Amino acid sequence: MSKLISLDEYEKRALEILPENARDYYQSGAGNEKSLAWNRADFSNFRIRPKVLRDVSKRDTSVNIFNTKIEFPIGISPTAMQKMAHTDGETATAKAAANENVIAIFSTIATTSIEDIAAAAPNSIKWFQLYIYRDRKLTENLVRRAEAAGFKALVLTVDAPLFGLRRRDLKNKFSMPPHLKLANFQDVVLSMDGSGINEYVARQFDQSISWDDVKWLMNFTNLPIILKGIMTKEDARLACKLGVSGIMVSNHGARQIDNTASSIEALAEVAAEVKDEIPIFFDGGIREATDILIALALGAKMCFIGRPVVYGLACAGQEGVEDVIRILKREFDLAMCLAGVKNVSEINRDMVVHKNYYAR
Ligand code: FNR
Repeated sequence: MSKLISLDEYEKRALEILPENARDYYQSGAGNEKSLAWNRADFSNFRIRPKVLRDVSKRDTSVNIFNTKIEFPIGISPTAMQKMAHTDGETATAKAAANENVIAIFSTIATTSIEDIAAAAPNSIKWFQLYIYRDRKLTENLVRRAEAAGFKALVLTVDAPLFGLRRRDLKNKFSMPPHLKLANFQDVVLSMDGSGINEYVARQFDQSISWDDVKWLMNFTNLPIILKGIMTKEDARLACKLGVSGIMVSNHGARQIDNTASSIEALAEVAAEVKDEIPIFFDGGIREATDILIALALGAKMCFIGRPVVYGLACAGQEGVEDVIRILKREFDLAMCLAGVKNVSEINRDMVVHKNYYAR
């Protein structure tokens, strides 16, 4: 196997390896997948303005997140059911994140339990992604388990009262292979016909959740709460007012409602509203280091990747995930050097312009 040298190459290889059912589940977006294409393409609307003669011989890629120094401004977004990509699933991701010293977020609907993930990587920084279930006792129990297992923050996904219209899954009658289960729950095996996961979500997730439920969550846990899926300045303002610890600008990998702005388009609007009140995290379409540079310049504190981790897993398990992260680290260090910045705090709004700037 020839060495893979970019996240795009990992994607290409993974899509060749994965069975159709899993491949379509991981790759697809909602509707006609317009926002999915924009998530990637819209990075091209921004142009980097490199600064020269800045003595970039010593570079520091670290960022400070919730009073902890993190060596690199990229983390792992939650993606469900990672054992469909590789038998080691979330365990491999957790170990890779630990070895590479990056923050990893794990999904409520993982194929490895909260406790098993924690046991695989006891000393790394893990955040737990939460969905609010109709059964609030069950939801509360998930939070207590994450706290007990040493997870350091809760990432409440707020853009999924239902799952989006994923036509490829409908066509494939997507279901999880029968030997896998949603490991945080007893006996949840998604091997129904039809789109099993969608039926599960419709039955279990609470479509009535509102800002009051965020308050409810804030009242019973001391963990920092990050709202994942904020795409507008109005919602960003409400989040700040409520006092959450952070927000993540994300359109859920374009898997919820099609025709939304790409994540990178939405970031500028949200950042202009929030400024430095609370940290803004970002995901959606990050595939190379210049994407990270652009997102940081537009106001993100840190970026996360979803599909590239799944593709790393599919290609080579834990090693694949480590390699994906290492590729981004190397690329990011080089991008900082060539853009003329010594540390991440120098990456500011001046570093990028919308491409229309050059047409003036
Ligand atoms: C996701 N995403 C997601 N988000 C979440 O909050 N909980 C989840 O369980 C999942 N599961 C999931 C599965 C798969 C296969 C994908 C592709 C995505 C969304 C994810 O956290 C993230 O927002 C996007 O994946 C980011 O976009 P990129 O990096 O995949 O382009």
